[in-house]
Amino acid sequence: MNDPRFLLPFEQGLVDMPSENVLVMRPVDSFGLHIFPTGTVLEQGFKPTRDALLQSGFALEPRVEQQFNLALVHLTRSKVESLGNIARAARMTDGTVLVNGAKTDGIESVLKHLKKVVAIDGVISKSHGKVFWFKGGSLPDWEKAAGMCQNSAGFITAAGMFSSEKTDQGSALLWPHIKDLKGTGADLGAGWGWLSKQLLGLADITELNLYEADFQALEAAKKNAADPRAVFHWADVTTLAKPHEPFDFVVSNPPFHQSRKADPEIGKAFIKTAATILKPGGRFLMVANRQLPYEATLEQYFKRWQMLEQTGQFKVFEATRPRK
Ligand SMILES: C[S@@+](CC[C@H](N)C(=O)[O-])C[C@H]1O[C@@H](n2cnc3c(N)ncnc32)[C@H](O)[C@@H]1O
Repeated sequence: MNDPRFLLPFEQGLVDMPSENVLVMRPVDSFGLHIFPTGTVLEQGFKPTRDALLQSGFALEPRVEQQFNLALVHLTRSKVESLGNIARAARMTDGTVLVNGAKTDGIESVLKHLKKVVAIDGVISKSHGKVFWFKGGSLPDWEKAAGMCQNSAGFITAAGMFSSEKTDQGSALLWPHIKDLKGTGADLGAGWGWLSKQLLGLADITELNLYEADFQALEAAKKNAADPRAVFHWADVTTLAKPHEPFDFVVSNPPFHQSRKADPEIGKAFIKTAATILKPGGRFLMVANRQLPYEATLEQYFKRWQMLEQTGQFKVFEATRPRK
């Protein structure tokens, strides 16, 4: 973030900082957090960001439900999710609720929505975005719209999750290639559990570990892929340690961006983790966007790999014999 916009209402004396009970929803880094009082709660459900915020010294929760004197909500890239967060923050706050976001995250449209239902006490425009504030209380049913519900394929998802409305085409392309898997395995970046649910339909799978960074998506996966053989981990796959018992197989449809920009480094880190957690005789199967350059990384971490299928949009790889 590294943007001082959200500090301005406090620095200009337009909003008073309470001495306690402050909530900051979805901070993406520690920048400017020093202005908040000790005991401030940071809500961040994305594990890598949450881990990076640990050094701030504030309490960190994936999802909060308590009363506050002031709340600051940073927008996410999903408008439905952001409106849900704002409504939840407003319900939990007796004092001021501030909303901060860039134009590219839809702050103008969010402000328009809010203007229709509450009196806005102030707006500051700065650095291609806005921060505005209003008095907390009850807002329209935006929390419900942002909550978990069944998508068109019958899976429980919520706005803001990866491919929340329909099965991802990449995962669907990978599925026919992994129907013969057996033993213990892992799904890296399991999302709300579509691929894992298919795998758990295979009788020869004895245990499936779902690793996912998005707390809410993992909560949805617990419902979608409920099975005694499923083990759910809220985890950053890029920092996973070697398990006591390595896996017979690993599957993944890795994320290809953390922000708006495609970033192959995340997928490369997933490939490295797959090699670390596999048995020497294990199999790694992944699907990736066709334009992302993963071949050299597969070569670096596996003695054997091949492309099983290529379409206009995706590539499916199999890799075996992880290099030690
Ligand atoms: C392309 S989606 C695949 C979703 C799922 N496998 C499916 O079948 O729909 C990638 C997933 O990786 C998750 N993710 C992103 N970064 C991660 C990280 N560092 N560690 C673990 N999961 C991560 C995202 O939240 C997203 O759910």
